[in-house]
Amino acid sequence: MISTAGQPQRVLSGMRPTGPLHLGHYHGVLKNWIKLQHEYDCFFFVADWHALTTHYDESEKIAPYTWDMVIDWLAAGVDPGHATLFIQSLVPQHAELHTLLSMFTPLSWLERVPSYKDQQEKLKERDLATFGFLGYPLLQGADILIYRAGLVPVGEDQVPHVELTREVARRFNYLFGRDPGFEKKAETAVDKLGKKPAKLYRKLRGAYLEQGDHSALEKAQALLTDQQNLTHGDVERLFGYLEGGGRIILQEPEALLTQASKFPGLDGQKMSKSYHNTISLRDDPLRVEKSIRAMPTDPARQRRTDPGDPEKCPVWQLHQVYTDESVHQWVQEGCTSAGIGCVDCKQPVIDKILSELAELAERAQPYVEDSTMVRNIIADGCEKARKVAEDTMDEVRRSMGLEYY
Ligand code: TRP
Ligand code: SF4
Repeated sequence: MISTAGQPQRVLSGMRPTGPLHLGHYHGVLKNWIKLQHEYDCFFFVADWHALTTHYDESEKIAPYTWDMVIDWLAAGVDPGHATLFIQSLVPQHAELHTLLSMFTPLSWLERVPSYKDQQEKLKERDLATFGFLGYPLLQGADILIYRAGLVPVGEDQVPHVELTREVARRFNYLFGRDPGFEKKAETAVDKLGKKPAKLYRKLRGAYLEQGDHSALEKAQALLTDQQNLTHGDVERLFGYLEGGGRIILQEPEALLTQASKFPGLDGQKMSKSYHNTISLRDDPLRVEKSIRAMPTDPARQRRTDPGDPEKCPVWQLHQVYTDESVHQWVQEGCTSAGIGCVDCKQPVIDKILSELAELAERAQPYVEDSTMVRNIIADGCEKARKVAEDTMDEVRRSMGLEYY
C-alpha cells in the first residue's frame, strides 16, 4: 500500500527475546513479516526492554536470546535488504519518548489495559507489580509512534496496546500540536453554534479527546451535520477541532491483525513456551521425531483397529500446515476406517517438519559460524532506525517546548 506522500507505508513490529523461537512463531508471525517486507517499509526489532519488564531477574539471558532471535529471523527469510532490523535498547530515543509520553498519559489508561491484570493473574510466579510493567503498553506506544508507523502487525492480545497508542498520539497532538490562531477561530465558531449546542459540543469534544470516548465523537459530528448557523469554513474548522484540531505530530497507527496461529504443540494444546510443548527452529531432529511420535491423537483410537476422527486430533492440524490434498484424503479415509495407524499418519508430517528444520538450520549456519555478520546487520539497522527516531524526537521536543539552543 502506498501512502498519500507516495512512499510505502511504514510497518513496525517487535518480539520479546524471552526464549528460542518455535514453529508456532515461524508459521504465525515470521512468514507474515516475510510477506510484508516486500510490500511495505518494514522495521522489525528485538524488544529487549519489554523482555526486562517481566524477566528482570534473568537479565543475563536477554542478550544471547536476542542474537539467537535475530539469527532465527534471518534463517526464516527476513531480509535485511528489504527490512530494517534493530534492537530496541540500541535506539535510546524510545526511552526518551516513553518518558515524555508518560507525563500526560493518565494512570487509568494503563491500569485498564486488559493484559495488565491478565498477566498478573496468569504469571503468578513473576513479580509484575512494577512501574515498568505498568508502563509496558506505553513503551510499546513509544516504539510505534517514534517511527510514525501506519501499520502494526500484532496478535489479538496486543490490539489494546495499539488502541492505547492511538489515544496517546491523539492526546499528544491535542496538547502539543495546536496552532494558537486556529484555536481562537475554532472557539469563535463554537460560540456561533448557539449557547446550548456550544456547551454540548465542548463537552463531547472533551470526552473524546481526553477520554477517547468514540460515541462522544460521533454525537458531536452528528451535531455539526445538523446545525444550520455556520459557514462551510466554520463547519470544517469545527470538524477538525473535534479531533484535536492541530498539527499531526504523532501519527495514529492501525493494528494489522495476525491470524491466531493454530499450530499445535507437542501435547496437542496451542504451541507456546509457557506450555513447554514447543519445537524450536533449531531443535534437535531426533528429539523432534521422538516427540511427534509420542504426540497425542484422537483419544477414541485406543487400539490400531479403533476408527478415529481427524477433527479431534492435533496431528490433523499439522497436516493442514504441511501436507497436500491427496495426503489429506488418505488421512481422512484411513483414520475414519482404521485403515491406517497413527504411526503411519504421522510419518509424512514428521518428514516435512524435519526437512523444514534442516532447511532453517542450514540457512542459520553461516550466521552461527560468523557472528560478525549478524552484528553488522543489526548495527546498520540501528543506525537507520536512530535517524528516523531522532527526526521524530526533534519535532517532539520542540513541540513540547524543550528547545534550549
Ligand atoms: N508486546 C509485543 C509482544 O509481546 C512486542 C512489542 C514491543 C511490539 N513493542 C512493540 C510489537 C511494538 C509491535 C509493536 O508481542
Ligand atoms: Fe490423528 Fe492421524 Fe491418528 Fe487419525 S490416524 S487419530 S488423524 S494421527
